[in-house]
Amino acid sequence: MRISLPLLLSFLFLSLVVQGLDPKCDTPDQGSTLKVLHVYSPCSPFRPPKPLSWEESVLQMLAEDQARLQFLSSLVAKKSIVPIASGRQITQSPTYIVRTQIGTPPQTMLMAMDTSNDAAWVPCAGCLGCSSAVFTSAKSTTFKNLGCQDPQCKQVPNPTCGGSACAFNLTYGSSSIAANLSQDTFTLAADAVPGYTFGCILKATGNSLPPQGLLGLGRGPLSLLSQTQNLYQSTFSYCLPNFRSLNFSGSLRLGPIGQPKNIKYTPLLKNPRRSSLYYVNMVAIRVGRKIVDIPPSALAFNPTTGAGTIIDSGTVFTRLVLPAYTAVRDEFRRRIARTSGNAAVSSLGGFDTCYSVPIVAPTIGFMFPGMNVTLPQDNLLIHSTAGSITCLAMAAAPDNVNSVLNVIANMQQQNHRFLFDVPNSRLGVARERCT
Ligand SMILES: *[C@@H]1O[C@H](CO)[C@@H](O)[C@H](O)[C@H]1NC(C)=O
Ligand SMILES: *[C@@H]1O[C@H](CO)[C@@H](O)[C@H](O)[C@H]1NC(C)=O
Ligand SMILES: *[C@@H]1O[C@H](CO)[C@@H](O)[C@H](O)[C@H]1NC(C)=O
Ligand SMILES: *[C@@H]1O[C@H](CO)[C@@H](O)[C@H](O)[C@H]1NC(C)=O
Repeated sequence: MRISLPLLLSFLFLSLVVQGLDPKCDTPDQGSTLKVLHVYSPCSPFRPPKPLSWEESVLQMLAEDQARLQFLSSLVAKKSIVPIASGRQITQSPTYIVRTQIGTPPQTMLMAMDTSNDAAWVPCAGCLGCSSAVFTSAKSTTFKNLGCQDPQCKQVPNPTCGGSACAFNLTYGSSSIAANLSQDTFTLAADAVPGYTFGCILKATGNSLPPQGLLGLGRGPLSLLSQTQNLYQSTFSYCLPNFRSLNFSGSLRLGPIGQPKNIKYTPLLKNPRRSSLYYVNMVAIRVGRKIVDIPPSALAFNPTTGAGTIIDSGTVFTRLVLPAYTAVRDEFRRRIARTSGNAAVSSLGGFDTCYSVPIVAPTIGFMFPGMNVTLPQDNLLIHSTAGSITCLAMAAAPDNVNSVLNVIANMQQQNHRFLFDVPNSRLGVARERCT
């Protein structure tokens, strides 16, 4: 049974009004495993107050992706790119949130997880331009601001040392923040991490900031991985739930304990110019059984230009550089034409391969050394119930950025466990129902 997003959201909204918060939301995270919620989940305070139509929600997510891709391209190019002008409100760039507790006594924050960023930052009391719940540092007995002499101050971009405090500015998507570099205890599930270094946001502009902060899962300086090396040994995995599912119980499992044993791996590649991103070597793409014809340069890893393929938790729909996308899409359309009686192709927003009759879609497989990831329909198609439109949920990289990067995004990761084993420099992927 398929449930449309608007129907689902209105159902959830009603049930919240009637029953209060889903009791599942209040259960504490156990061990070293955090529940992962989609921002539209019933437990999430960030779900749209008024349900969006299917078209609206799809277009909104695509628009958010556009800002995200610009941001990722700017990371790759190591230069800032002027944010795209858009009439649309760009909100909530990353899609999945986890519950963290900061300070003593603990204050709960629902932070966005982001595999393409290193640092953590949180809106602090008194912040100008922050939109939601803030962390009140004055109420925590373990909070402290770091000074310019502290070694961590050398790890933030462009630190400024007004007085003795270490402060910094950074841009994220189309937003910018000004923050103090601070430390406090972060409690992740049952694990307390004393003296966690993070940015305490004092001023924010723009609207692509996650409202309760960001937890960077990259592998550069100041990331969760580098600050918890002894505890978690730079190993984590996640299973992202599908936002259409009623259960919404994905998980972020930190550390080597409890990770899957039977899992296929491919090497992680390191771009020294951009150490936080998780690059992999995608060598080919299969549509059904057929390996499509893609010029090798569209897939090749190049640390100088930043080209290649990354795994990103914050982008919703996979983007391929134009020649790769065209090859995949054309073969996909050929297959549909053959199996679904030449159904007419239409477009919706940035999606160019949509159908208004039922279709039988081929699988799409991403091929890596040591590992093939074959995606079923659930990871490939988005459906509306009302208009019975079905679209291939991928797109070409936007043409207004200097696109060299293929981004394997979260819709294509849903219901799989992605295991980041940084000490052994490998990524594992296994099917898992996390809805
Ligand atoms: C940030 O640092 C400045 C300079 O030391 C200090 O005056 C201010 O109170 C700090 N803000 C917070 C929220 O800690
Ligand atoms: C950082 O941002 C603050 C607040 O917007 C601003 O006053 C300050 O000049 C900025 N610092 C730098 C180095 O850009
Ligand atoms: C998800 O919800 C369905 C329907 O409520 C239930 O049957 C199923 O057991 C749940 N799955 C998990 C993993 O909790
Ligand atoms: C991936 O698929 C290709 C082509 O079908 C096959 O040759 C290769 O052995 C597969 N790799 C793995 C690790 O299964």
